[in-house]
Amino acid sequence: MDEKKENIYILAIESSCDDTSAAVMRGDTVLSNVTASQAVHEQYGGVVPELASRAHELNIVPVVDAALKRAGIGKEQLSAIAFTRGPGLMGSLLVGVSFAKGLAASLGIPMVEVNHLQGHIMAHFIKEDGVDHKAPEYPFLCLMVSGGNSQIVKVDSYRNMEIVGQTIDDAAGEAMDKCAKVMGLGYPGGPIIDRLAREGNPKAYTFSKPHIPGLDYSFSGLKTSFLYTLRKLVADDPDYIEKHINDLAASFEATVVDILMDKLYKATKQLKIKRVALSGGVSANTALRQAFHDYAKRYGWEIFIPKFGFTTDNAAMIGIVGYHKFLEEDFCSMDQPAFSRTVI
Ligand code: KG4
Repeated sequence: MDEKKENIYILAIESSCDDTSAAVMRGDTVLSNVTASQAVHEQYGGVVPELASRAHELNIVPVVDAALKRAGIGKEQLSAIAFTRGPGLMGSLLVGVSFAKGLAASLGIPMVEVNHLQGHIMAHFIKEDGVDHKAPEYPFLCLMVSGGNSQIVKVDSYRNMEIVGQTIDDAAGEAMDKCAKVMGLGYPGGPIIDRLAREGNPKAYTFSKPHIPGLDYSFSGLKTSFLYTLRKLVADDPDYIEKHINDLAASFEATVVDILMDKLYKATKQLKIKRVALSGGVSANTALRQAFHDYAKRYGWEIFIPKFGFTTDNAAMIGIVGYHKFLEEDFCSMDQPAFSRTVI
């Protein structure tokens, strides 16, 4: 990194769902990445938008303050503020967007708006001081799997991304969370299913897989198949779930992973790209990570799996996009509104 880039400090803010996060970047290196999660939603089995906005309002100042302190950077040293403009929950986004605008105006520095999904994909390019890092070369394919999205994206550069396949109904994380809820597990269900599945048999049950043409996904049929199987089993034995929780979790998880990997494999063949990355909250999943390693071995893929801290929602992934846009002076004006839904 040359001297000039070394002096670029960007404060990034992410508040699209239920995590309030702030990061400070020096160039493409993360100096701090502070996230406050919101436990308030656990009792409702899902994110309650109104409560999320209120919690962001409480968290945003201390989180930004902690990120600056941890980075050892004063506000006056900042070159720009990057923020998630969307997609996400409107009330949540408004807290981060308004805060970013207010701070940028008071400091007289530019603002950079960032698409949350682009951030998840670009998380592969975040560097850390003293840590060896290998980012994918372009073009690569990225399996972006989170609570709100399941997509296969062809990435030609940080701003040229094409969705080549996506879910036509539920996202993979959403399916995990909903099926965990049906089994009486907590929220978010993905990490709980992951933990339980490690002790279970992935072949104990067979659930239906979708027959969707092309590279698109569908998870609603699997959800229904899981629910009907469970209903039948519980009708015969009310304690069935408790007794077989590990096998149920493992078989369900294995089906989700198979569905994801089948289409991803098809995409690598169709597009003739063997450089494959994984992104989004569900990329923390143990079985999915293992499947990536297995496919790499079997099909000669070069794979990229992000560090756990950069998989779920965090501001460093917003900061890395912010940095690239900053270099191109791709700034945004004060009248840019937050947006709740979009494609990359
Ligand atoms: O990317 P993310 O933090 O938030 C957005 O949706 O933007 O993803 C959250 C999703 C949730 O559905 C959660 O259950 C899932 O990621 N998740 C996991 C794991 N960790 C988080 N799913 C499966 N296994 C995990 N270890």
